[in-house]
Amino acid sequence: MRPKVLVTREVFDETLEYLARFFEVESNQSDAPLTPAQLADRLADKEGALTTLSERVDAALLAQCPTLKAVCNIAVGFNNIDLKACTERGVMATNTPGVLDDSTADFTWALILATARRVTESEAWLRAGQWSGWKLKQFLGTDVHHATLGILGLGRIGQAVARRARGFDMTVLYHNTRRLSEEVEKSCHAAYVSMDELLARADILTLHVPYSPATHHIIGAAQLAKMKNMAILINAARGGVVDDQDLIEALQQGRIGGAGLDVFENEPKLDQRFLGFKNVVLTPHIASSSETTRRNMAMLAAENLVAALTTGKPPNLLNPPA
Ligand code: GLV
Repeated sequence: MRPKVLVTREVFDETLEYLARFFEVESNQSDAPLTPAQLADRLADKEGALTTLSERVDAALLAQCPTLKAVCNIAVGFNNIDLKACTERGVMATNTPGVLDDSTADFTWALILATARRVTESEAWLRAGQWSGWKLKQFLGTDVHHATLGILGLGRIGQAVARRARGFDMTVLYHNTRRLSEEVEKSCHAAYVSMDELLARADILTLHVPYSPATHHIIGAAQLAKMKNMAILINAARGGVVDDQDLIEALQQGRIGGAGLDVFENEPKLDQRFLGFKNVVLTPHIASSSETTRRNMAMLAAENLVAALTTGKPPNLLNPPA
């Protein structure tokens, strides 16, 4: 009998067709998010799962899934998966690194430009029929070219963002837990600085760290207070990396220039106060969402699942001890 697997949310037809060559596939193509109880129920007899960041995979769930051997996330981030609990139960966990770097970097630039040049704010105004003529002082924005870009987290995505900054003749600074090789710094034209220097010098600060206890609220009141008062904060990394309450207070008090946000704490429950800021660009966690990239992410996750259940060696294994 072929192993049974669950696909927890809607995926592309080719993803399902590929999985069906190896497994008996149950898929939630209606895409209604599953409650933890529904997820446990559906996983009770499965050996594998293709998951998304909307499903929490923790010890409580795993205790109800005795046959589960692999959880393959369709995302590079895996903060929805308790890796320790997976390892303890011998469940392999995988993610989808690499395939989304360029699309996420492109979108980071969309947020940077839209926030600095007031694209969504002016478009909403135009659509509301308010444009009566050209004015010299209309929607004055902030220049991106020749500005200083600060990157917190110069991993794969951060590096792709840095490389794109060259076209805007920017000074690029970065901070990481550890300094990168001279070769990487040169290829990104990025200079390593302390966290305090990054905060103090960046005109645009963009975040590309994974979410973990170490990066929880890495940007909060104290960090926002060190930023220039015209600086723009960009978050296309994860909700929780920024303390949203502190960011809202900084915006209310005009302590920073604006923000471009694709991710939020407690998403999709958006803090409604964000909607009131004209200098904030808001998008619904779509940084990796180009047609090609989302197809590639789903297929890579499916390949991980096939490899996990056939060879025990998925290419993007996150917990080798499992
Ligand atoms: C999306 O947020 C991802 O982690 O891939």
